Amino acid sequence: MTQEAINPKIQELRERKAAAKMGGGEERIARQHAKGRMTARERLELLLDKGSFRELDVFVTHNCNDFGLADQKIPGDGVVTGYGTINGRLVFVYSQDFTVFGGSVSRSHAAKICKVMDMAMRNGAPIIGLNDSGGARIQEGVFSLAGYAEIFYRNVIASGVVPQISVIMGPCAGGAVYSPAITDFVIMVKDTSHMFVTGPDVIKTVTHEDVTFEELGGAFVHSTKSGVAHFAAENEEDALFLVQQLVSYLPDNNMEDPQVMASQDDPLRQDPELDTIVPDNPNRPYDMKVIIKHIVDDGQFLEVHEHWAMNIIVGFARLGGRSVGIVAQQPAVLAGVLDVDASQKAARFVRFCDAFNIPLIVLEDVPGFMPGLNQEHGGIIRHGAKLLYAFAEATVPKLTVIVRKAYGGAYCVMNPRHIGADLVLAWPSAEIAVMGPDGAVNVIFRRELAQAEDPVARKNELVEEYRQRFANPYVAASAGFIDNVIEPHETRPRLINALEMLQNKHGSLPPKKHGNIPL
Ligand code: HXC
Repeated sequence: MTQEAINPKIQELRERKAAAKMGGGEERIARQHAKGRMTARERLELLLDKGSFRELDVFVTHNCNDFGLADQKIPGDGVVTGYGTINGRLVFVYSQDFTVFGGSVSRSHAAKICKVMDMAMRNGAPIIGLNDSGGARIQEGVFSLAGYAEIFYRNVIASGVVPQISVIMGPCAGGAVYSPAITDFVIMVKDTSHMFVTGPDVIKTVTHEDVTFEELGGAFVHSTKSGVAHFAAENEEDALFLVQQLVSYLPDNNMEDPQVMASQDDPLRQDPELDTIVPDNPNRPYDMKVIIKHIVDDGQFLEVHEHWAMNIIVGFARLGGRSVGIVAQQPAVLAGVLDVDASQKAARFVRFCDAFNIPLIVLEDVPGFMPGLNQEHGGIIRHGAKLLYAFAEATVPKLTVIVRKAYGGAYCVMNPRHIGADLVLAWPSAEIAVMGPDGAVNVIFRRELAQAEDPVARKNELVEEYRQRFANPYVAASAGFIDNVIEPHETRPRLINALEMLQNKHGSLPPKKHGNIPL
């Protein structure tokens, strides 16, 4: 073929690709920008390493000829899919294009998403979905629903095999919310993203409640009240940066370990400030996040669910360069008590870490489970059991540091040796007992106190006696339930050393189809 014969074909290809890149056209792109949102391709450009994106299925169109769609076939069909790298690591991506039919999901659109999900599974790499969609392509009816269900199925099969991250950057309504819900992390953008199963109009009709989009399913609500969103980003750039950070702590798939990231922070660093953080008075609060930041590499902690169930803290950090998942009580919120939300939050995090070979570090200061009608009727039995179950079945290295209180059932739940912790350390401030001294004395000496000449003085005596006996780490240590009592400033080197000791740990569970975690 001559040069002249080739050129028109190349020209045609270029024109077709350029048309596909324009999505729904200039006017709709301008509308997207006016709403403070980027286009699907602009988002991918920010998310991925420069020049690394390889697009697939650029020319795919829908197959619907109803409702005037026969002559409206836009290449790409409302979703940009492909693969690229984040800090050199392969990820598969899809990014819904709101400028094309509002990013709505046709069968072809869904098939494009399924294709990259299948490729991610075959090649053992994370899947990142940037969601911005009006939901099911209404003109397609059940064909759209079929497409959705095929995505949901893949989300489930990929769960625990490759990390899945959803970023919500626009509307996400109806059954469409169930794809992000199944993925490991949901990041919402403040003010511009919404998630709900039924919208304000339907709610008005059915329950007569007046509610705005933001009140119903904005980033604030889902990151503080419902727990649906793990992160609420300030804006789109922030959301994409969060994805990059998150990926850095995770392995590519469940057969690999997370990358070790060298740090200047000395693994042998002892931190004297840790000796002064826990107050002498066991009823006084303090901020557990300060302790976390003093222990981990470079004080860097990526907190997950920062604003939901704040009485428990979960998130990622590194110790000696290795990724760890931290689960810690927050005595500064509700005294660090375990309640329904805290149990669910921590249980899901523990299971994620276990699925992806991320060792668990527990920093414990728990006065027990939250009492109350609300909690009991809300199923604290069921939900608390999730956390117990999650810790017990986890086979990754599991380390516990009892910082202060470890009371009652919560002691049994928060990764003690008895349910498989590999190493349990305690600070001298640890108190390990069935309940706090005050409550304990009220129960076991009720009769004696009723008959005492001076009940207050007698109670003080008994409380002190009980405190001497149990409100310390030494009873548990003498039984071997605690492996060592350490000075707080030793915590970092001790934990790093333990992770090294455990690096060849291969835990396993008896063969079974799957357990039956209380859901
Ligand atoms: C087809 C859609 C669409 C949809 C939006 N569009 N949603 N086309 N199917 N679901 C089109 C619009 O016709 C419009 O086309 C363009 O996208 C932009 O929409 P606007 O309404 O102009 O945008 P905006 O004002 O920003 O409002 C966004 C919106 C609204 C809130 C998402 O479009 C909306 O309410 N859409 C319908 C949502 C919905 O009911 N979806 C089905 C839900 S049920 P033009 O050509 O004018 O640009 C569902 C079930 C999933 O999704 C089930 C899974 C199992």
